[in-house]
Amino acid sequence: MSNGDFESYFQQRARRFASFYSSEPVARMLGRGPMFDRLRITIDIASSLSPDRVLDVGCGSGPLFPPLATKGIHVTGIDPAEAMVALARQQASAYPGLVDVDQRSWEELTEVDAYDLAVALGVFDYVAEAAQLLERMGRAAPHVVGSFPAPGLRLNLRKRRYGAQGVTVHGYRATDFASLASEAGLEVVDRLPLGRAGYVVHFRRLQGNTETSPPGPPASGS
Ligand SMILES: C[S@@+](CC[C@H](N)C(=O)[O-])C[C@H]1O[C@@H](n2cnc3c(N)ncnc32)[C@H](O)[C@@H]1O
Repeated sequence: MSNGDFESYFQQRARRFASFYSSEPVARMLGRGPMFDRLRITIDIASSLSPDRVLDVGCGSGPLFPPLATKGIHVTGIDPAEAMVALARQQASAYPGLVDVDQRSWEELTEVDAYDLAVALGVFDYVAEAAQLLERMGRAAPHVVGSFPAPGLRLNLRKRRYGAQGVTVHGYRATDFASLASEAGLEVVDRLPLGRAGYVVHFRRLQGNTETSPPGPPASGS
């Protein structure tokens, strides 16, 4: 992948990042409230779709597992960072037979129609090839949900903080999603704001797009 330090950044900070989920009030005080907002919005979208199988791309420590698995939804989490996978497997162990965790990156996603919904929260922030990630998710599932940070002061501060560690952060304007979707063979169903932090966007396959051929080789530079 082009943003080579993205994976190692979260590998080194897995416990610290996961700990934001231990207290919502504290996380909100630290400006991390959108992590909870994007989870809630995604759970609402998932509930409206009644999926049997959900793919969680860049699942991190697995905050999406409990709300989905307790509804009887089967979740597959993928994440390349070993430390995140260890935390995710710990979380998954509470839901035997319902949650699987694979250590792999989105560039290794080759499934076709294996899921009803594919989700990526806090991942498009660091991916330069957003349309390629969307396309892979759209092949894996007919519905796709992603969170996207918006340009602005908040993002500029993040760019500086992460940039110092060699990680590039990308911002998305409200007007970007229709073209991103169409590049990926998808259309926008809904775009839900996360305050000033950005959006959660629900995409679905373009009607009539029955393309299910396997994706091409991994993104160049990956
Ligand atoms: C900001 S965290 C979000 C974790 C989780 N989705 C959440 O909402 O808490 C981003 C996650 O993406 C993972 N990641 C890094 N490179 C990735 C890649 N190439 N493919 C998939 N996930 C990746 C990181 O290891 C990290 O767990």
